[in-house]
Amino acid sequence: MFNKIAVIGAGNVGATTAQRLAEAELAKTLVLVDVVEGVPQGKALDLCQSGPVYGYDTNVIGSNTYDEVAGAELVVITAGIARKPGMSRDDLLETNAKIMRGVCAEIKRVAPNTIVIVVSNPLDVMCHVALEATGFPKNRVIGMAGVLDTSRFRTFIAEAANVSVQDVQAFVLGGHGDSMVPLVRYSNIAGIPLNHFLSEETIQTLVDRARNGGAEIVKHLKTGSAFYAPSASVVDMVESIVKDKKRILPCAAYLQGEYGVQNTYVGVPCKLGKSGLEAIVELPLTTEEREALNVSISDVAENVEKLKSLA
Ligand code: LAC
Repeated sequence: MFNKIAVIGAGNVGATTAQRLAEAELAKTLVLVDVVEGVPQGKALDLCQSGPVYGYDTNVIGSNTYDEVAGAELVVITAGIARKPGMSRDDLLETNAKIMRGVCAEIKRVAPNTIVIVVSNPLDVMCHVALEATGFPKNRVIGMAGVLDTSRFRTFIAEAANVSVQDVQAFVLGGHGDSMVPLVRYSNIAGIPLNHFLSEETIQTLVDRARNGGAEIVKHLKTGSAFYAPSASVVDMVESIVKDKKRILPCAAYLQGEYGVQNTYVGVPCKLGKSGLEAIVELPLTTEEREALNVSISDVAENVEKLKSLA
């Protein structure tokens, strides 16, 4: 168990992440920070009062400042505005970059040794901003997206094949955007290739649905984006770090030569343990997969450049 984990942003993603972390008892103290007065305090108190019923002793503290974050071993950043229908994640670029820079300056001040998990969108670009603004080494700035995208893909596969989600393994590479690359070849049901259960045509439909999984939910909710699956995905990553489990999870990582990519955040299989990102797993790709990944990478790079021109 860590001594302290902080969650920045007490909106739907942040508050649900805090709830899941408190329930999992992954830290003695959990700090929830938000700029809106009263919201983190109220939600923190509410979470504390769930402890006796649920059976956890996590001490949840709400704050509008960063003093309580001091010494945190892990910080999850969810701060930023969410998408509305018709918006792409990229439409959030400028606003969320400003928020991210402010948050990171505070984190650097009070918790210089922390591991950071970035959740704010557009995810891959926000990871760049966080890496730059904290000045932390790349093993301590990781993005959450692949676990979520993969979880969506697994859900759709399980539903179509009428099997338990537990037995579905899948992989999604690339940026957390419309050009993400669900890797069918590395996905399976109980170790058996997908095409044993599903036609190529069905698989392609599921790939497309996974790619648009976030937008599908935004369309339903109208006033925001998903938060149950995103928060569950964050906790999967946090657990692997806190317990030093060394799970291999798809995360946004800063590539410096891996997959032939230089200085760009993109989703790849990562080993997560007590020092954060401990290794990147490089998979051989077919020409087609490689091309799809390149498209996704250039989408991320384009947004990084756009942000530079706005700065
Ligand atoms: C999604 C948003 C959170 O994919 O990016 O639901």
